[in-house]
Amino acid sequence: MKDTLFFETVDSTNRVARELVGEDKPHGFAILAGSQTAGRGRLGKAWQSPSGKGLYCTILVRPELAVEDYSKITLTAGLAVSLALKEICQLQSQLKWPNDIYISGRKCGGILVETSSLQDTDERNFVLVGIGVNINSEKGAFPSELQETATSVFIETGKKHDIWSIFAGIRVRLLQLLLQLEREGFAAILSQWRERDMLQGRWMKWVTPAGEVVYGESLGVDSSGTLMVRDHSGMSHEVLSGDVTLASRLCEKTGKADI
Ligand code: BTN
Repeated sequence: MKDTLFFETVDSTNRVARELVGEDKPHGFAILAGSQTAGRGRLGKAWQSPSGKGLYCTILVRPELAVEDYSKITLTAGLAVSLALKEICQLQSQLKWPNDIYISGRKCGGILVETSSLQDTDERNFVLVGIGVNINSEKGAFPSELQETATSVFIETGKKHDIWSIFAGIRVRLLQLLLQLEREGFAAILSQWRERDMLQGRWMKWVTPAGEVVYGESLGVDSSGTLMVRDHSGMSHEVLSGDVTLASRLCEKTGKADI
């Protein structure tokens, strides 16, 4: 087993991992927590992390990739989670660009990738792959705002699962896929990602980082990992960041009622 540090409770495994990177931790080193008091999601959202109910981990990787290819790591990590859930729990999942894992139309997990910055003391580049998966949460255990949109492996399979085994399976898969990405490029990973793409061909709403709202049909992910969307005027947009959700065509007219 590769290096892993387990904590009963931390604020955020991503934060702890960043603190430890300076200690020259190797590629594949991971922080795993029983619970988080300040779990972080994408776009400044919080990640609910109750004790014993989910997988909360951060895997440190030192990819031999150009920095402009780092965005592919989020998609690669989502695929690693999806493959591990299939192998270990016999669960079919879907992926929502860029970082969400869905089962039966509800969110079950997410990825938060953070990279080294110029301020970091470590001279070698690193990427922190934060992974949160709802594993043993019961129906009704989610906060009211997530009741209709979240699910867990337990809810979907009716069985409790060993969080360590799922963690180990995800890490093995992630490291294998990263090696494949470095040696063979993105094509094979992208093709498996596309088979699970939840948005492909569907009507979606994109809130740009500037707060502008664009509705359109998802054209899927291109070879660089960028999501493409075509609005009703036929204009294509590159979605490099921001929030995307499924939307009904009706909500474009009314500006309300996302599905
Ligand atoms: C998202 O869906 O927005 C991403 C959620 C990522 C949550 C995980 S839990 C482990 C790691 N530590 C954090 O603080 N966040 C990630």
